[in-house]
Amino acid sequence: MKVHELKHKALEKWIQDASNLMKPDDVYVCDGSKGEYDRLAQQMVDEGLAVQLNQKKRANCLLFRSDPSDVARVENRTFIASKTQEAAGPTNNWIDPVELKQTMTDLYRGCMRGRTMYVIPFSMGPVGSSIAKIGVEITDSPYVVINMHIMTRVGSKVLDVLGTEGEFVPCWHSVGKPLTKGESDNGKWPCAPLEKKYISHFPETHEIWSYGSGYGGNALLGKKCLALRIASVMARDEGWLAEHMLILKITNPEGKAKYIAGAFPSACGKTNLAMLIPTIPGWKVETVGDDIAWLKFGSDGKLYAINPEAGFFGVAPGTSEESNYNAMKTIEKNTIFTNVALTEDFNVWWEGIGYEPRGKLIDWLGNEWVYDKNNKDQKPAAHPNSRFTTPANQCPSIAKEWEDPDGVPISAILFGGRRAQTIPLVVESKNWLHGVFLGSIVGSEVTAAALDLTIGQVRRDPFAMLPFCGYHMGDYFKHWINIEKKTTSEKLPKIFFVNWFRKTDDGKWLWPGYGENSRVLKWIFERCDGSSKAVDTPVGYMPAPDAIEKPVSVSNKDMEILLKVDREGWLREVDDVRNNHYPKFGNHLPQELYELLDTMESLLKA
Ligand code: OXD
Ligand code: MN
Repeated sequence: MKVHELKHKALEKWIQDASNLMKPDDVYVCDGSKGEYDRLAQQMVDEGLAVQLNQKKRANCLLFRSDPSDVARVENRTFIASKTQEAAGPTNNWIDPVELKQTMTDLYRGCMRGRTMYVIPFSMGPVGSSIAKIGVEITDSPYVVINMHIMTRVGSKVLDVLGTEGEFVPCWHSVGKPLTKGESDNGKWPCAPLEKKYISHFPETHEIWSYGSGYGGNALLGKKCLALRIASVMARDEGWLAEHMLILKITNPEGKAKYIAGAFPSACGKTNLAMLIPTIPGWKVETVGDDIAWLKFGSDGKLYAINPEAGFFGVAPGTSEESNYNAMKTIEKNTIFTNVALTEDFNVWWEGIGYEPRGKLIDWLGNEWVYDKNNKDQKPAAHPNSRFTTPANQCPSIAKEWEDPDGVPISAILFGGRRAQTIPLVVESKNWLHGVFLGSIVGSEVTAAALDLTIGQVRRDPFAMLPFCGYHMGDYFKHWINIEKKTTSEKLPKIFFVNWFRKTDDGKWLWPGYGENSRVLKWIFERCDGSSKAVDTPVGYMPAPDAIEKPVSVSNKDMEILLKVDREGWLREVDDVRNNHYPKFGNHLPQELYELLDTMESLLKA
C-alpha cells in the first residue's frame, strides 16, 4: 500500500514502514472533521458493530458492546520496556525492549489484512500551545478513531503544527484480528485473546506499541499511554509533573476563585468531584479536567495545570442526575457509550442511573435482560466498567479557562482513595515533603477499571499513579520531592489527604459524598487563604471542631469519627507501609520518607 505524500517526511516513512509490516488494504490519514466522524459512525452502524441511539433522546449517540474479554485496562499485559528492568522499577511489568519489539513485530506482521489503517494525528493539550505534545496513532479500529476525535484534538491542524520536522510520539495500535478475503467482523467487536494483548511503552524512545485490545486506555493511546506513562518520563526529564488528576475551579460567595487538582485511583469519583454542584450556598465549582493534569512552573514560580484531554471517558454505572447532574447533561448528545444496557426505546440504562428500567433491555453482552427487583444476585445489565466518551465542551460546568494554554494556577492538591477505615475525611500536610509522603502511601479498594485485579481489596496506589508511572516509582517520589527546590515553598500548592469513602463497622457510609464534598473543599479553600481553623495532629493538620459545617444527614457522632485520628488504625498503616510497601522500592526510596514514617509513628505513640 503506497502512502500519500506528507509534508513531514519522517512521519511519511514511519507510516509507510508500518503499512509494509501490517499490510492493511488501505491507508487513510484522518482530517478530524465532523464528516469523517459521521462517516465512520455510519459505517460501524451498517456493519452491526454499533447501535444508533434514539435521536430525540440521545442525538448523535452510539452504543458499542465490546468482546467480554476486552472490557477494561489490562495491567498485567501493560509493559514499561525501558533498557533496564531497574529503570522500570518494581511496580511495572518489564520486558527487554529488543525482545518485546521482536515479539510484537511478529504479531504486527500482516495484522491489518482486510482492514483500513487509520492515521490519527492528535494533540494532547490545545493545538499549537507550547505545552501540548503531539502524537500520531495508527490503528485499524474506526471505534478508536471516533473516540480519539472526542478525547483529543485530531486532524489536519495538528499536521500543520508538526510542519516538516516537528516531534511526535509514534503510537502503534492494532486490534490484532486480521480478516481473510471476504471475511467481516459480522457485528462482533474485534480483538485478540488476553495472552496476545500487549500495551507497551518504550520510555527512552517515547514510543507506544499496543496490540490486541480495542478498549479504553489500552487503545486510545493519547490518554494513559501518552499523557501519563510517556509524559511522566518527559516530566521527570524536563522538570514538571504529569499526573492522574482532575482539575477544578472553585469560587466562593465573594467571587474569589481558586484551582484545585486531585489524584484519586481509577473509578473513585474524579469525574463526579470535578463536576460537583456544591450544597453550600453561594459556592460554585467548575470543571477544567476530570482525569489527567500536566503541571508546569509559570514564570512567577507557581505551578500551573492544563488538562491535556478534550473529552471525558467516564464510568457510567453510578452516574445519575443526583450523583452527577453535569455529566448527565453532557452525555445527552454526541456521545459514545460502551457496554451499557440498551432500552426498548433505544436509550441507555445502567445500574445507579437513578431510576428502575422498564420493559425488556439488552444487556452489555447482547442478551435480553428484564429487571428483577426480588433477585439480589441478578447480573448487572451494564458492565461495571462501562463508559461514556463525551466532549468536554458540552459540559455545563466547564470552566471558561479550560483550554487556556497557560494553564490555571493550582492552590491545592488532593490525594485520596476508597478507604472504609482509618483515613479521616481530610488532613492537610504539614509541608510539601509531608504531602509527598501522604501521596506515597495512598491506598484504595480496587474497582472494576482494570481487568486483572481482585475487586474490593486495598492496594497501595501511590499518587494514584501505580498503573500509570512510566519509570521507577521510587525515583518518581524523589522527583516530587525535588519539585520543592525549583521554587519557594509558599508558592507551592498545599497538599491534602481526603477520604469520602469511610464506612461503619456494619458497612454503612459515614459521609454522603458528592455535592456535600463541597464542605471539605470550602475548608481547603479557606486553609489556602489562612482563614479556616485547624488543629495539629500526628498525621497532619485537621479541621478544628466545627470548622467544617456538618451536613444534616450526618450525626455528631459520625462527624467525630470522620475527623478523629484513629491511632491504632494509623499504627497499622505505618506497619504496613514500613514492612510491605516501602521495601518494594529498595534503595530508590528516598530516605526522607522513611524518616517521616518514623516521626509519624513516634507522634502516634506519644
Ligand atoms: C480511567 C482509569 O479510565 O483511570 O480513567 O482507568
Ligand atoms: Mn483515570
